[in-house]
Amino acid sequence: MLKLKKQVGELLHQAIGKLFSVCEPDAAALADMLEYPPDASMGDLALPCFKLSKTLHKSPVQIADALAGAVQAPFFERVEAVKGYLNFYLDAPIFAQRVLQDMDEAGEWYGSPRCGEGKTVVLDYSSPNVAKPFHIGHLGTTVIGHSLKLLHEFAGYRCVGINYLGDWGTQFGKLIVAYRLWGNREEVEEKGVDALVALYVRINREIDGDAEHGIPPRQDLAEQARVEFHKMEQHDPENIALWKWFVDISLKEYEKTYSQLNITFDSYKGESFYTDKMPAQVEKLRQCGLLKTDDGASIVDLSQYNMPPCLILKRDGSTLYPTRDIAAAVYRMQTYHFDKCIYVTSAQQSLHFAQWFKVVELMGYSWYDRLVHVPYGTVSVNGTKLGTRTGNVVLLKDLFRLAIEKVTAIMEEKNPALKGRGDIAQAVGVGAVVFYYLSNNRMRDISFVLEDALSFDGNTGPYAQYTYARTASILEKAEGEVPQFEPAELTAEEKEVVKCLARFPEQVSQALIEYEPSVITRYILDLCAAFNRFYHQCSILNAEQAQLRDNRLKLTDAVHRVLGRALELICMTKTEKI
Ligand code: ARG
Repeated sequence: MLKLKKQVGELLHQAIGKLFSVCEPDAAALADMLEYPPDASMGDLALPCFKLSKTLHKSPVQIADALAGAVQAPFFERVEAVKGYLNFYLDAPIFAQRVLQDMDEAGEWYGSPRCGEGKTVVLDYSSPNVAKPFHIGHLGTTVIGHSLKLLHEFAGYRCVGINYLGDWGTQFGKLIVAYRLWGNREEVEEKGVDALVALYVRINREIDGDAEHGIPPRQDLAEQARVEFHKMEQHDPENIALWKWFVDISLKEYEKTYSQLNITFDSYKGESFYTDKMPAQVEKLRQCGLLKTDDGASIVDLSQYNMPPCLILKRDGSTLYPTRDIAAAVYRMQTYHFDKCIYVTSAQQSLHFAQWFKVVELMGYSWYDRLVHVPYGTVSVNGTKLGTRTGNVVLLKDLFRLAIEKVTAIMEEKNPALKGRGDIAQAVGVGAVVFYYLSNNRMRDISFVLEDALSFDGNTGPYAQYTYARTASILEKAEGEVPQFEPAELTAEEKEVVKCLARFPEQVSQALIEYEPSVITRYILDLCAAFNRFYHQCSILNAEQAQLRDNRLKLTDAVHRVLGRALELICMTKTEKI
């Protein structure tokens, strides 16, 4: 497959070797130095030669001049040196033919780096805490995580998606106490997780008290909760039955949201699954001489690595979040023999991961360097921060419902005759939320504004899906012909479309390397912009000549395929009609 930068990197490497008798930088480093100029008059690809001055001991101008005469490839019309830049101009007809031929040969796999064959990736994502609200803060882990799974699958990896449910911990003690005090079965059965959340919020309020209104904190409730959780840990049948019920109710609810996103998991083994797998790891830590006692608690000292200690056991001997993660990693290695195990969580947990990854290394596990934490920034809604304990949250299901309602209303107005509107509104509404979220680099803190996400103009999900549906409708009118592309002069707009199609494989690789689905989201916007300019400037079905019509249909078909694939990769449901 033609990866333009990669190929030109190789050509440059050879030319530099010949001209300057050096083998540094290597082809990959040279490929990285290449840029796509914002304006086509500066070439289709450019090498800023100042990046080579140090290594080659020459001025950028000298380097550009020397290279201009030495680099040649069949798909370039010319290579020019301009003020220290080496500018490459594509021979558009030949290049277009090459790209489209690549696409035909690769078929469904066009864009895949095929680097994952025979390798396994475990992805730990979404992982909500049971009986706490599944809110907009989970959008990040859920859609970044799932996109990374889809990207890895596309690259040929065997992927295991794990929902590491937060299904164990003191919150269940609280919930049991709250349920016995204020809850009843009918209500929980009817209202599901909302009823559980209400109980959870209420007990936290009572435990914390309210100084402003003169309500004292209820330490007794906190103590009761501890007792109930302790009983749970001792397998008390009544508490265990309640706990199972709470988990089931929550899961049912999450699954509705997952199905709207088309997400399924390969495993739901949550924190509770590891309760009996921790002692062995604690023992190993002890044998390795890593455990220290600090005020009664067992910790691993990480001061040498500039980190606070990693907490393994509380004073009362109960285990902690890192302890469970260590046991889970060992279990996953034994079960799946992963080449990578990826954890997607908010950046607030970065220290937690850095700490226990280090502990795994100190324990002598050779695979410690296969653990990858992928953090992301915070989400606020219209500028307001969220808090789970206080109940000030925007639930994912509400956000999706709102988005679907709004899209339905827009569609009723714009296209009342549309069939299958329910499914389409779901794809577009949910897709709008996903697209909006994935438009930013994952580390950026974002403020969610639903109006912006749902707009049909502007760089939004609905706009991307609309463009996709536009390609589908043109192809439908052409009645499924898949014509041949014959090299011919291209308009500026056609050439842009081809260049954009050719970039797809590079973008997929970049998204994988950086664990950054937003690379694909931005690529989608570029492709949509290129296609829409082409659509408005060039007649496709009514082109002046038959071959021109064929070529343009072929381009439309290519955009349809790449855009469809790209949308799928970021966890969106594509729709042929809108
Ligand atoms: N349940 C946790 C939370 O909601 C996230 C779990 C992430 N995965 C892990 N292996 N620690 O904060």
